[in-house]
Amino acid sequence: MLEINRICHFCNKVQQLYIVANISKSTAVNLKDAATSLRAGNLVAFPTETVYGLGADAINKSAIENLYKVKGRPKGHPLIVHISSMKNLYRWASEVPEYAIKLARTFWPGPMTLILPRTKLAKNFITGSQNNVALRVPSHPLALSLIAEFEAQGGVGIAAPSANRFGRVSPTTAEAVYEELSDYLSVTDVILDGGPCLVGIESTIINCTKTVPDILRPGSITKEIIFAKAGVIVEQSTYTENQQQIKASGLLRSHYKPNASVFLTGTPKSGDGLIALDTYMTPVGVIRLASPKSNSEYAQQLYSALRMADRKKINRVFVIPPTGLDISIAINERLNKSARLP
Ligand code: TXA
Ligand code: MG
Repeated sequence: MLEINRICHFCNKVQQLYIVANISKSTAVNLKDAATSLRAGNLVAFPTETVYGLGADAINKSAIENLYKVKGRPKGHPLIVHISSMKNLYRWASEVPEYAIKLARTFWPGPMTLILPRTKLAKNFITGSQNNVALRVPSHPLALSLIAEFEAQGGVGIAAPSANRFGRVSPTTAEAVYEELSDYLSVTDVILDGGPCLVGIESTIINCTKTVPDILRPGSITKEIIFAKAGVIVEQSTYTENQQQIKASGLLRSHYKPNASVFLTGTPKSGDGLIALDTYMTPVGVIRLASPKSNSEYAQQLYSALRMADRKKINRVFVIPPTGLDISIAINERLNKSARLP
């Protein structure tokens, strides 16, 4: 276990932070301790297959208040509750349409979040005072083990937004979580290291509160995949900020931002960063940040490449967006927000 000293952002005192070893070396004791820590009201950052989440006990109001503080997220933005399996669905959801059952059966555990009418367990501090709740069963083995252990200790769900400060790029490694949040976490909080995330961008969010489901946030599970595997027709949300019916901070026009300015058009000059598929040549003097070989590799590498730009103190990053009807839709949605001025 790696111990790191740092100055607390809130109290200005020296504190220690623990990074638990990689999953291959991680022991059941680490997970048990992390679950106990969550039950005691602390925060635990953990890997999921999409991005790292910053977890808190979903029914502990003060833990959730602390989570908002550490994340710097405005109050009233709802959180996703992570559960270990479909058997816990009805504890949180009061009505589950037939199509949502099909989606859960087909895609859980996995990178899909379902928004459903809530039960009394889902309090206003989780749902942003809406009458629905977002639920997900992640597939990362470490996340599943943590949730299962947490439930074995009496917990009912772990609320976890992406483990970044509000509006910034989601972390896809434990080191990136440390970079983002170490100034804000306390000694009793934990970062679990499960290696780099496989998907690399956040889950597909599906609104299941109407007769026909719609995608609120695109992800690796596309509407084509949903139809092919579950036989369910979903629509792409026609959401605009002015007609906001359902709150989702990732739906703000500007989000997923590194310090560098992101450009989706124009030509990079010497000293600028570049993210593009490996078939795209790097102009002389330009700093290549990622050369993915496919669109799914593109998603996997995108956030760490944007972080690398900041680490290298690059001011301008040029991105050649991927094309297609696959995960590239979600990548483009993130890139458009990343490139937008606040
Ligand atoms: O892949 C993911 O979904 C990751 C991992 C950690 O599970 N989580 C994640 O959480 O991306 P977050 O909070 O960064 O983004 C979740 C989005 C936010 O835009 C939030 O506003 C929206 O989901 N959301 C959560 N609950 C909602 C609800 N009840 N109704 C509408 N939107 C909701
Ligand atoms: Mg987020």
